[in-house]
Parts: sequence; C-alpha cells; structure tokens
Amino acid sequence: MTEVKKIAVIGSGAMGRQIGMVAALGGFDAVVQDISADAVSQAEQAMKEWVDGRVAKGRLDAGQADAAWSRLRFTTDLREAVGDADLVIEAATEKLDIKRRVFAQIDELAPGHAILTTNSSTYGSSSVADATKRPEKVCNMHFFNPALVMKAVEVVRHPDTSDDTVDTVMAVARQMGKLPVLLNKEIPGFIANRLMGALRSEAIDLFEQGIASLEDIDVAAKSALGHPMGPFELMDLVGIDVTYLIREATFDMTGDEREKPHPLITEKYEAGEFGRKTGKGWYSYAD
Ligand code: 3HC
Repeated sequence: MTEVKKIAVIGSGAMGRQIGMVAALGGFDAVVQDISADAVSQAEQAMKEWVDGRVAKGRLDAGQADAAWSRLRFTTDLREAVGDADLVIEAATEKLDIKRRVFAQIDELAPGHAILTTNSSTYGSSSVADATKRPEKVCNMHFFNPALVMKAVEVVRHPDTSDDTVDTVMAVARQMGKLPVLLNKEIPGFIANRLMGALRSEAIDLFEQGIASLEDIDVAAKSALGHPMGPFELMDLVGIDVTYLIREATFDMTGDEREKPHPLITEKYEAGEFGRKTGKGWYSYAD
C-alpha cells in the first residue's frame, strides 16, 4: 500500500474544511486549500469554533485539539498544498470543467506516488482521471455532510483504478475513524445518494400534491422511519444548490428525464434559496 502521511484537501467549503479536520484528527498532516483567501479564513474560523465547542463540551481534550491544530494548515497556494502530498482529496464545486482543470493542475504539482481522489458524488472518477497522467491512482472518496460526524465514506473505483489505490484509500478512511464502503463500478449517485434521491422525490411529490405539509413529511420520516432528519431538513443541510447541480449533472450524463431537478428545486435554486447556508431553503433560519 502507498504510505500516506500528508493529505491535501482542495476546496474549503462545508465539506473540504471538515474533511481536513477529520484528517488531522486521524493523525495525518493535512492542508486545506482554496483559491479565495476569504473562503480559507472563514473555513479556518469555523473549524476553530467547532474545536473550541468540542473541547468546551468535553468531547475532545485540549491536548488532542492542540495536536490536531499542529497538523492542520489552511492556504491559498495549490503548489504548497499538494507539492509533498501523499493523498489529495478534491472537494471543489460540483462542476466537471472545474474539477478537470483542478485534476490536471494537481497532477502537475503533486509527487508521482500521490493518489488523487475526488469527493464528488456525481462524477465517477473516470471523468477526471483522463485529465491526469496517473489514472490508476485516481478514485472517488465520497464523504457525507457533516463530514465530522457521518461515518460513511464511499470509495468508488473506475475501470483503471489499481488495487493499491483502493486499499490505500480504504485504509486512510478507516484511520480517519470512518466506515468505508467500496463500489466496484461507477454509477451516478453511488449508493447513499441513490437511496436519498428516491426518498426525496417521494417527499417532494407528496408535498406538491398537497397531501401533507413539508413539516409533517419531515416528522413522518423521523418518527415513523427513525431517520435523524426529514428529507426537507436534509436538503437544507446539504444545500439545495448542491442537490440541483447533482441532478442537472446526472441528467446530462444519463439523458434520463427522471434525473432532472424537480421544478420546485429549480425554483429555489434560481431564487438563491439554498438552505441553511443562505438563511432560507424549505425552511427559514433566523441567523
Ligand atoms: N458539523 C459538525 N458537527 C455537527 C454538525 C455540523 N454541521 N451538526 C451536528 N454536529 C454534531 C454535534 O456537535 C453533535 O455532536 P456530539 O453529540 O458529539 O456533541 C452531534 O453532531 C449531534 O448533533 P445534534 O445533537 O445537534 O443534532 P442531531 O442529533 O440532530 O444530529 C446530525 C445532527 C448529525 C446532522 C443528524 O441530524 C444527522 O445525522 N442527519 C442526517 C445527515 C445526513 O443524512 N447526511 C448525509 C447527507 S447526503 C451527503 O452529504 C452526500 C452529498 O453528496 C450530497
């Protein structure tokens, strides 16, 4: 297996920042990179608040927190981030042209032995692997929101991914305290998003037909099925923009009309009502 000591995370959004912290808590040297200095400093601040909260709540001792901070850095410099990385996790926006550009750049800058992964849940890694000269070292490593809490990581190989790459990424996920699952074949949505998508479509249909309020549909998912959140609450957490972009991309890839974003999702996307991050989605958030 490839020895992994240093992990670079590309993108400091809701996922990237938390994946960086998960890596540092798992004992890896980690760096989170983003092109925007503002985004990087917001991400660092959010992680400071999270760590302070954990320490105050007695969930993390101060020594562990200091050790994690000593292993984690935030930067805008891609060369510095990936120049000595053993594993790169790309968590940039769900747009294929951006991801392909990022993979081509990382491939130039990262050491030859480095494994390059994408956190994408939409695009199988074959759609970025051919932007690099090391397709056998490329796969998906898909985390779930909030990545600091959710245990699952979907590892998805494409036809040319090597066994060493898969074994290394599975082992890294376990060292991060996660429960990785392996998909031997690329399929849009992988496992968990396909299950979630089916539930979400039903939930929106029930709401649109006026069968029940969105609040009651969420209550039923929690109280009847034991889900921690209802489908509307979950869309607001994940981001209606993310949901929209995933559906659009999946429709582009498959041509299947059923994959198109629901018109109510499109309406919210166009209105900039993305959920918790904008203060309004299906629900309104005071701050
Ligand atoms: N970031 C970090 N930690 C968080 C958090 C966040 N955004 N939200 C909650 N937590 C932590 C809390 O600190 C708390 O930790 P503790 O118990 O150790 O102190 C723990 O999670 C539980 O939080 P709360 O008591 O405040 O609230 P809940 O018990 O309701 O848990 C939840 C919150 C973990 C988000 C839970 O509701 C849940 O599991 N929801 C479902 C999330 C889910 O399905 N995620 C997958 C989305 S799909 C996806 O990401 C794929 C992508 O491709 C779209």
